[in-house]
Amino acid sequence: MDAHLVDFLSLLVRWLHVIAGIAWIGSSFYFIWLDNSLEPPPPGSEAAKKGVAGELWAVHGGGFYNPQKYAGAPPSLPDRLHWFKWEAYTTWLSGTALLAVVYWLHAGTMMLDPTRAVLSAAAAVGIGIASMVGSWVVYDGLCRSPLGRRDEVLGLVVFGLLTLLAWGLQHAFNGRAAFIHIGTAIGTIMTANVFFVIIPGQKRMVAAMRSGERPDPADGRRGKQRSVHNNYFTLPVVFLMISNHYASTYSHRHAWVVLALISAAGVAIRHFFNRRHKGEFAWPYPAVGAVLLAGTAWWTTPRIPPLPKLEGEATFDRVRAIVGQRCLACHSRVPTFPGVPQPPGGVILESADGITQNAQRIYNQVVATRVMPLGNVTQMTDQERAVLSAWIMSGAKR
Ligand code: HEC
Repeated sequence: MDAHLVDFLSLLVRWLHVIAGIAWIGSSFYFIWLDNSLEPPPPGSEAAKKGVAGELWAVHGGGFYNPQKYAGAPPSLPDRLHWFKWEAYTTWLSGTALLAVVYWLHAGTMMLDPTRAVLSAAAAVGIGIASMVGSWVVYDGLCRSPLGRRDEVLGLVVFGLLTLLAWGLQHAFNGRAAFIHIGTAIGTIMTANVFFVIIPGQKRMVAAMRSGERPDPADGRRGKQRSVHNNYFTLPVVFLMISNHYASTYSHRHAWVVLALISAAGVAIRHFFNRRHKGEFAWPYPAVGAVLLAGTAWWTTPRIPPLPKLEGEATFDRVRAIVGQRCLACHSRVPTFPGVPQPPGGVILESADGITQNAQRIYNQVVATRVMPLGNVTQMTDQERAVLSAWIMSGAKR
């Protein structure tokens, strides 16, 4: 297929993915907020007599809303009941399509790092898929086991296992691919929670009510538990989805610990909102989150690996020649590197301006974190990195 067409399709899928994700997370945040903000109706009121356990008043977009939640089954179900599921399914389907197009189809360049593991492209894709499916199977088993009745312990065990997965993937893939695959593993758990547990449970409850039976309260309980888990997963997942822009996180020697710290901060911040909406005092949680994030910022300061002593002078002509030899295969208007249809990240280094304008970014990628050239496929030498470093440090002049 035409390279431009492929690129445009990927744009459409990514756009859809972000929009569906916003819709899904938005409704997840809204319903958890709703649940936490409900207040019992006054005893003897009409709502209380109908079996309403909690309600609230809200104003939005020039209208007044009065949602009510029933303790168990309402006396009767209306014909039209709104379900929330396609947001989740669309997010997962578009996300997996994107994962396949960006990573799996070009696994050789996008996933592998021979300094970490010697794998074939097919093996890398296999590990990626297995990490998504396996995460769900293990997580679902834990929720159904006796551990599933002890929410705090379950949360810690799931956190520990996902951190272990991060450690494992860090030793199999390059940093970017490792992070994105942990994100997709958690995203798969979240979507499977909706598809295999929450929605089927709700279908059984509705069917029971329509045939005049009492719905099984276990279905409600299970659905609620999974929905709360999904709520806590959201901040870490969104971080993982944007992490690719931040080499100091995924390229860290202990990236799996960096991920655990940032995820713990995300969970603490989410917990703050959940407690606060219930009207509880919760300020220690964002304080813990802020300390974790500040510590991570300090800890991930790139410790630049020692470079050999510069031989000769770091002139712009030398810089241009190095960039020409090591970067232009990908970073030119029409890349020649197989599987790279467009200049990655829009970074074009063909002209003198292109190089000087991107000097700081080049420093970050080539000297500070060494993630470029990607997987060092063009075999840049340390002496060449020393030349770029010296040139940028002395002001990146022509
Ligand atoms: C094999 C292809 C390849 C080679 C060779 C390569 N890059 Fe990249 N580069 C990429 C990819 C892929 C990205 C990620 C784009 C994205 O974020 O989607 C990237 C991103 C970048 C970015 C933007 C990173 C950011 O997020 O700010 C810079 C700057 C960069 N490369 C510089 C270089 C330099 C300098 C060289 C040569 C020393 C180089 N690259 C060699 C593939 C390559």
